[in-house]
Amino acid sequence: MATKTIRDLIVKGKTVLVRVDFNVPMKKGEITDDNRIRQALPTINYLIDQGAKVVCFSHLGRIKTEEDKAGKSLAPIANALADHLEKDVTFIAETRGKKLEDAIKALNEGDVLMFENTRFEDIEGSKESKNDPELGKYWASLGDVFVNDAFGTAHRAHASNVGIASNAQESAAGFLLEKEIEYIGNAINNPKRPFIAILGGVKVSDKIGVIRNLLTKADKILIGGGMSYTFLKTQGIEVGKSIVENDKLDLAAELLKEADGKIELPVDFRVTTEFSNEGPVRIAAYTDVNPDEEGLDIGPKTLEKYKAMLNEAQTVVWNGPVGVFEFSNFAHGTRGVCEVLANLKNATTIIGGGDSASAAINFGFENDFSHISTGGGASLEYLEGKELPGLSCLDTI
Ligand code: 3PG
Repeated sequence: MATKTIRDLIVKGKTVLVRVDFNVPMKKGEITDDNRIRQALPTINYLIDQGAKVVCFSHLGRIKTEEDKAGKSLAPIANALADHLEKDVTFIAETRGKKLEDAIKALNEGDVLMFENTRFEDIEGSKESKNDPELGKYWASLGDVFVNDAFGTAHRAHASNVGIASNAQESAAGFLLEKEIEYIGNAINNPKRPFIAILGGVKVSDKIGVIRNLLTKADKILIGGGMSYTFLKTQGIEVGKSIVENDKLDLAAELLKEADGKIELPVDFRVTTEFSNEGPVRIAAYTDVNPDEEGLDIGPKTLEKYKAMLNEAQTVVWNGPVGVFEFSNFAHGTRGVCEVLANLKNATTIIGGGDSASAAINFGFENDFSHISTGGGASLEYLEGKELPGLSCLDTI
């Protein structure tokens, strides 16, 4: 059974409720990365072209109190959406009530409306985040059809996805959700081999599920980032002041045993004596990190070693930066991985969202991968092999 998609719907003249994930990074009221908005455009434009009345909504941030609402209105995001669509978007600064209902009723075919941050409903009783049955039912009553295009939120069972889907007459996946599932799902369940995963990030504990799942699917797992040091320390290697999860040393040893040679670790690092971009930088072999030094990036030999392996790959999934790329002195590894993957012309290359996706986009590699996921937590959970409630709640055909 396949999930129903937007292509299976007849939407002309219908009010279509579209859950998008416009939880975009903002600074002083300005959107600093609009990738999630751009990625939702194919679905919204398709619905406009088909003559639907389009009602978009999203969460932004995490809202628990009145004070948390400051700077979290979707008004600037509705403006940005209007700019991208090159058409008016009616913004209603409410999550329910007559004003919203009247504005939806007044929509003509091809019009777009956006309503306020769904998590404003969390102030009293976490109604959105706890999937309050009344709220999902109410939101579902505002339209005829529900389209979920919020892959970034698909690991949550909230009122604005699961709640609406369970009350809507009809529900389907939008183009972005479909594309995410297709790329990530195919990579892990039906990969062209060799299939290599690159896993970075600070903690082994954040990636246990992914490592375990990928050990059964991938041919190799290349480790980078802060979690490297826990894997090295568990083998008795001196890692100086580098970040180590001391309570996860046994787990790291267990994973290495389970991996039976599938896990590759860095062979050198860029090390420094202070956690900043200003300190002295040295390239150290993995066996040569001094007690007062910490590794903040993989070194050139590691990049060469990983490059040789990646050059053979047919499928690559990358999740998590391999160094502290926010500091230019320690961005070489993450940028280098981007370059290597960008040059793999015959492989399917996927970035599993989060920081590695931001890094690739910021370094100018946005168009050089087969797919850059818009989901951080969602892609991680999908890579772990978990069911995504925001997907499984939709109609199947
Ligand atoms: C994300 O940015 O990962 C998604 O929008 C989900 O946000 P959340 O972690 O606050 O649920």
